[in-house]
Amino acid sequence: MNIATAFADSLPGISPDVYGAEDFRAISDIAYREAGIVLPEGKAMLVYSRLAPLVRDSGCATFGAYVLRIREVGEERQKAICALTTNHTFFYRESHHFDHFRDSLRPQLIRRLEQGGAVRMWSAGCSSGEETWSLAMTLLGPDRTAGLALAKRDVRILASDIATHALNKATAARYRAEDLKPVPDALSRAWTTTHGEEAEIAPEVRAMARFRTLNLLGEWPMQGRFDVIFCRNVMIYFDTPTKERLVARFAGMLQPDGTLYVGHSERVTGPALDLLVPTGPTVYRRRAAA
Ligand SMILES: C[S@@+](CC[C@H](N)C(=O)[O-])C[C@H]1O[C@@H](n2cnc3c(N)ncnc32)[C@H](O)[C@@H]1O
Repeated sequence: MNIATAFADSLPGISPDVYGAEDFRAISDIAYREAGIVLPEGKAMLVYSRLAPLVRDSGCATFGAYVLRIREVGEERQKAICALTTNHTFFYRESHHFDHFRDSLRPQLIRRLEQGGAVRMWSAGCSSGEETWSLAMTLLGPDRTAGLALAKRDVRILASDIATHALNKATAARYRAEDLKPVPDALSRAWTTTHGEEAEIAPEVRAMARFRTLNLLGEWPMQGRFDVIFCRNVMIYFDTPTKERLVARFAGMLQPDGTLYVGHSERVTGPALDLLVPTGPTVYRRRAAA
C-alpha cells in the first residue's frame, strides 16, 4: 500500500480528492514554519476537522485550493494557524506553581511594590486568560483591602498568545461560574463576582493585565525584563530546537533572579541552562548577575 492510500484509509469518508496526504503535509509545513507547531501524521483528522469550516467559508472546493489561498493571503493563513492551536486551559492549572509563587516569590515582590518599585510578569501562551487571572489573584492575595492597594502600584502582567479568538475571551474576563471552582475560595471571594451561571474578574485585577497577540517565534517588541514568566503547556507543540531557542530567549528576558515556570511535561534543555537553574519541579531561576 502506498503512503497516499494509507493516509486516505486513515480518514474514512473523506475523499482524497478533497483532502489528501499532500494537503496535510503542506498545512503541517505552514504550521511549523509560522508558529513552530509540529503536526505529525496522526493529527490528519484533527487538521481536517479544525480547517474544514474555514475551507468552506473561503469558498474553496478542496484543501488543495485552500492551501494555495493561505500561502498567498497572510490574513487567511493567520486564521488557519489560530484554528490549529489547542487552547485548552483552566484556572489554577498545576496549582503547585501558584503555591510556589505565593510562598517563594510573592513576599519579595510585594515588598518591592510597597517600596515604590515595579513588578513585571508575563503569561506567554495565555490562551483564554485563566492562567493570567490565577497569577494576578495570587499576587493580590485574599485580603481585598491590601490587594487593592497593591493593584494601584506599578504592577503589570503581559499576557500574550498567537490565537486571537482565545485572547478575545481572555480580555472579556467572563467565564462560567463553575470554571472558577479550582480557585481558592478566599481569592475568588475577593476578586470575582458571580451573576447566576457567569463569573467575572474584578476590574482592579483586569487593569493589571495587557493582552497582546504575539507569535513566540517572531519579534518580541517588549523593552524591559520580567520578574516572572509563565510559559506552560505551549512548548509541548514544539520540537526540541524550537523549545531550546525559546527558553534561551525567555532566559534573556528575565531579571537576574527572575523565575520561569514551564508545564508539567516540559523541561529546560540546551544553552538556556547556562543562565537558568532549576529550583523546583518545572521551576527555573535566572542566575543573579555575577
Ligand atoms: C494549551 S494552551 C496553554 C495555556 C496555558 N498556558 C496553560 O498552561 O493552561 C497553549 C497555547 O499556546 C498558544 N501557542 C501555540 N503556539 C504559539 C506560538 N507560536 N506563539 C504564541 N502562542 C502560541 C496556543 O494558541 C494556545 O493558546
